[in-house]
Amino acid sequence: MPETARLQLGDKAIDLPIVVGTENERALDIGALRAQTGYITLDEGYRNTGSCQSAITFIDGEEGILRYRGIPIEQMAEHSSFIETAYLLIWGELPTENQFNTFSDLLTKHQNLHEDIRHHFDLFPSNSPPMAVLSAVLNALSCFHPEMLEIEDDNSFQEAAARIMAKVRTIAAYSYRHANGFPTIYPHPDKKYTANFLHMMFSQPYKEYEPDPELVKALDLILLLHADHEQNCSASTVRMVGSSGANLFASVAAGVCALWGPLHGGANVAVVDMLEEIRAAGMSVKEFMQQVKNKKNGIRLMGFGHPVYKNFDPRSRIIKKTCENVLARLHLKDPLLELAEELEATALQDEYFVQRKLYPNVDFYSGVILRAIGIPHSMFTVMFAIGRMPGWIAQWQEGRFVSKSRIHRPRQIYTGPTQRVYTPIDKRG
Ligand code: SDX
Repeated sequence: MPETARLQLGDKAIDLPIVVGTENERALDIGALRAQTGYITLDEGYRNTGSCQSAITFIDGEEGILRYRGIPIEQMAEHSSFIETAYLLIWGELPTENQFNTFSDLLTKHQNLHEDIRHHFDLFPSNSPPMAVLSAVLNALSCFHPEMLEIEDDNSFQEAAARIMAKVRTIAAYSYRHANGFPTIYPHPDKKYTANFLHMMFSQPYKEYEPDPELVKALDLILLLHADHEQNCSASTVRMVGSSGANLFASVAAGVCALWGPLHGGANVAVVDMLEEIRAAGMSVKEFMQQVKNKKNGIRLMGFGHPVYKNFDPRSRIIKKTCENVLARLHLKDPLLELAEELEATALQDEYFVQRKLYPNVDFYSGVILRAIGIPHSMFTVMFAIGRMPGWIAQWQEGRFVSKSRIHRPRQIYTGPTQRVYTPIDKRG
């Protein structure tokens, strides 16, 4: 018999079942609340509301814990790769060598785009926001792969997952090449995922780009660290769209749109904008922090704070270390990194930030690495989307085929006008 919690509403009392997760997180199951009491719950932004039970990623925001299918992010960062992590998130276990090679071969098989898709890029103005292009072309994949719209079994899911994982990187690179008037560079048959992306981004017809292996490793780690993050805004969007029966292409295209916002994935662009604005204005850290604390014009310390982490974001610590290693490797000194480190050190000593439990999140340092690698500033959020793709696919699959969730349909409390009559236009005003 599950544990219950008694809810007393006037003279009516009901017992709500208590759901306990494998990490002892506890929830009140209110599935029967409205039917039994006529009440609903209200939780702006769902900060106290679980939308699902999930076995993919565990976060303890108070302790700064992040685990992919139970494996701590620190171990994944040290031992794994982005594609191995993608396999773990999507299929629940680290792949055997044979499973890894099969998945890797599928990614190679599907890395090209239908030639007609290439013409889509010709129709976008060169200054188009890369996230708009990414979302549009991801959605367009459903026009070119209609057989992927209805996923009936594990094989068709694996094919669709591999297609999207393989092509999201190609779309991003083609979008960059087109926006800059560069000729398209096709995926290289022998290069693996992240190195191939850099090849498609930076090779020229007359000269192949040979990135420093350490840079490839750093970018692969950035993608790995972004791979999933339980029910964040974009993952919840993917699950919600998928809950209507929408196909995987449409669902992840919606996830791209949700990620675009500056409070979510768009923050990595906003962090670099903020750092560059501070430098361009010749502002001291102290002056800038005063503006943040005065909440002047809504200025925020971008890359700080988190809806769940009320302690450090474990990804930020790993990215900061990688930042320092990459810049040292390239014998680069990026003034933005020094400024970011000074802002962090100041914030961690400042009551405003400490009291509000605001710490660097995944976006605070990632932009500095992407800059060092040569990824254009406008594509930072696209890199987040490439990294998050396996998480979205895993979340979509779990919502659709594991928990077989009903269509997501939140309720509301209506606060508009009570009943009134229609007024003809000549009687208004
Ligand atoms: C991601 O959900 C996920 O898991 C997301 C993510 C993922 O992997 O998917 O981790 C990725 O989106 C990371 C977050 C990236 N966004 C930013 O860096 C943007 C800057 N941060 C914030 O805007 C903010 O911290 C949020 C949006 C991230 C979280 O907002 P909350 O939890 O809703 O906090 P809030 O807006 O209610 O703020 C609480 C207080 C307010 O002050 P008071 O009203 O109490 O006086 O903290 C202040 C806010 O003004 N505050 C900040 C701040 N963030 C919150 N003040 C200055 N700078 C900030 N960055």
